[in-house]
Formats: sequence, C-alpha cells, structure tokens
Amino acid sequence: MAFDLQRARQETPGCEQVLHLNNAGASLMPQPVLDAVIAHLQREARTGGYEAAEEAQEAVEHVYDAVAALIGCARDEVAIIENATRAWDMAFYSIPFQPGECILTSMAEYASNYIAYLQVAQRTGATIQVIPNDAHGQISIEALRNAIDERVKLISVTHVPTNGGLVNPVAEVGKIAREAGILYLVDACQSVGQMPIDVGQIGCDLLSATGRKYLRGPRGTGFLYARKSILDRLQPPMLDLHAAQWTARDRYEMRPDARRFENWETNYAAKIGLGVAIDYALQWNIPTTWRRIKNLAYTLRARLSPLPGVIVRDRGITQCGIVTFSVEDRDPEVIRQTLRQHNINVSVTTASSTLLDMQARGFTSLVRASVHYYNTEEEIETFCRVLETII
Ligand SMILES: Cc1ncc(COP(=O)(O)O)c(C=O)c1O
Repeated sequence: MAFDLQRARQETPGCEQVLHLNNAGASLMPQPVLDAVIAHLQREARTGGYEAAEEAQEAVEHVYDAVAALIGCARDEVAIIENATRAWDMAFYSIPFQPGECILTSMAEYASNYIAYLQVAQRTGATIQVIPNDAHGQISIEALRNAIDERVKLISVTHVPTNGGLVNPVAEVGKIAREAGILYLVDACQSVGQMPIDVGQIGCDLLSATGRKYLRGPRGTGFLYARKSILDRLQPPMLDLHAAQWTARDRYEMRPDARRFENWETNYAAKIGLGVAIDYALQWNIPTTWRRIKNLAYTLRARLSPLPGVIVRDRGITQCGIVTFSVEDRDPEVIRQTLRQHNINVSVTTASSTLLDMQARGFTSLVRASVHYYNTEEEIETFCRVLETII
C-alpha cells in the first residue's frame, strides 16, 4: 500500500509546530483523536458527565472492539486501564506466587516491572531469574529454554525496551511458554501501534500497552489483554463495584470478563480518544507504517553514525523506530535541552529506567530520538544538521 505522507502530516496539527522525535515518549495526536476528545469534554460540560457517557456509550464500547481488532483477541479479553504500568500491574499482581516459584525475565526490563518483581519476591518468597542476552543483545532463546523447570511460574518480558531500538523475539519466547504451559506476560508498551501485534502469534496470556506512544492516543490511556482461559488462575489485587458485584452480605461475584481488571471511574473523553486513535492506526495499515518507521530509523542511524563523537547504541536483529546514541564528553540532558531551544523534541533515557541493561553496557544515560511514520527524511536531515552544530 502506498504511503500518503502529505495526508499524514496534514492530519497532524503538531507537524507544523515542532520537529517531534519523541514518539516513544508521546506521539503527536492526529486531528480526529483531538476532535473526539474535545467533543466529549464539551458534551460533559454541557450535559453532565454521566449523561454524556450514556450518550457516548457506543463510542465507549467500540474501544474494546478496536483493541480486539488491533491485537487479534476477543473484546471480552480487553480491559481499558489508565496507563500501561497499571495494566501490567493488574496482571502481574494477580498471579498467586508461592515460595520458591520463579519469574523468568529479560535484561531489557522496565524499572516499574522489575520493582514489582522485587516487591512480590520479598512478599511471597518467589525468585527472579534474569535470562541473559544473546550475541545480538536480545533475550537468548537458548538460555530461556535451559532455564525452564517446574519452579517457573511466569515468563515476563518487555517487547521493546524504553532505552533503545531492540525488539525482543516475543513469539519465540511464546513458543517456549506454550510448550511448557507457563504463564506468559508481555510488556508491549512501546511496540503496540508501532508494529503488527497478534496475541495469538505471540502466544502470550497477558499483554499490556499504552495509548499515548505509537498509537497516538491521548495521555492517561492504556489497556490490558487477558486470555479468557487463564482468568480463573488470577486473583485481581483490587476489586471494586465495577470489577465485581456485591451479591450478598458475605459475597461478591467477579465480572466474567477482563473488565474485572478495570475500575469504575474513568476519563471517558480519553477512552473514546483511544478508540479513535486505534481506528486511525488501523486505517493507515500497521504493516505499512511499520515499514516506514523502520526505514526512517535506519536512515537516522546511518546519518548519525559518521558524526564526530556520536555512537549509535541500538541492539537486536530487528531494530524499531527508537534510536539511541551517545556523544563523547557530552551530557545527553544538555543535548536534549539545546535541541529543544531549536524546537526539536528528543528525550533522554536514564540508567534507572532499565537498570540491568544500562549497567551491563556501562551507560548512565543516552539521547533517545524516536521516529513515527509522519516524520520525514527532511526532518531527519535537519535534526542531524542541528545536532552537528551543537555537539
Ligand atoms: C517498556 C515500557 N513499559 C512500560 C512503560 C510505562 O508506560 P505508562 O507510562 O503508560 O505506564 C514504559 C514507558 O515508557 C515503557 O517504556
């Protein structure tokens, strides 16, 4: 499918304002998402919040269908949650660990996930085992296979880490999880919207994602996929009157579907915006936009590499739209702030967000420039020219 760059940019008001290479932070929202969010807020202001939600029920319910279409699951396997962290937490903290049971995870793990492993390990006596990387810098499938035994309760990996272009081979991990009958949780926060995601093909039981990154949705949105067949093996850490029904003085009944991981009050405007963002992403055809993102990132890495003192730091066989680099004797944060003065957005990834990986590679921080399909080759050129003048 041919890619209509002009339309992509016309429908993204921010493209006229800023050179945005912080898509792994939060992408620029497209106009239809912006319109949907604002329209619902206005409706709330005019008719009342509850009444507005009632009127918008179809759009709200549609979000579940949109997620289902995006990741290849059923609508009752979807919970809409306020961000990826809480979505992931609701899944992880639902797993009843026993002393001695083991969590297998990856080097690229996100800080919030690892902090949760540590807390649960301390509480329950479960253990954490980090699978080393292979020579390409992605989780070693061989080492993972060798680590499987009867103590392993959970395999939990990050698909695309916060600190680079790495894409972990989550479907190969899934094959091992399926063969061994082990629960499998994927943090897809940075991959959903960027590349095709199919939970059946990945073979995961649980998958979390956010709205504001590659899906281009509003901030404060995210979702959890929970495979129907494993719901009964999980104990949600918190329940409210939306997740469960109070049926008698001494009884409640949990919802039969994945919405047992949600809670009652929510930001309806943002939730509706998430549905519109997913429809919008699907309409662009994700395999097409994924190809474009990879090409742009490849161009950026090739253009950065010869610059004096610059070293591109991305690892993995498949590399995505997130480009990380260091500049000799330069502080990434100063580079970020100086680029901001030139109206260019990048971000800085620090060791504490992916401690295992950053320590193993000896980095305290890196500059992170992340492209989306609406970025252009000219923007990459401008970015590199400006960078050259400030380093
Ligand atoms: C790999 C990964 N997981 C989870 C998160 C957290 O997502 P959220 O901020 O939506 O909770 C991030 C955010 O950067 C991330 O990079």
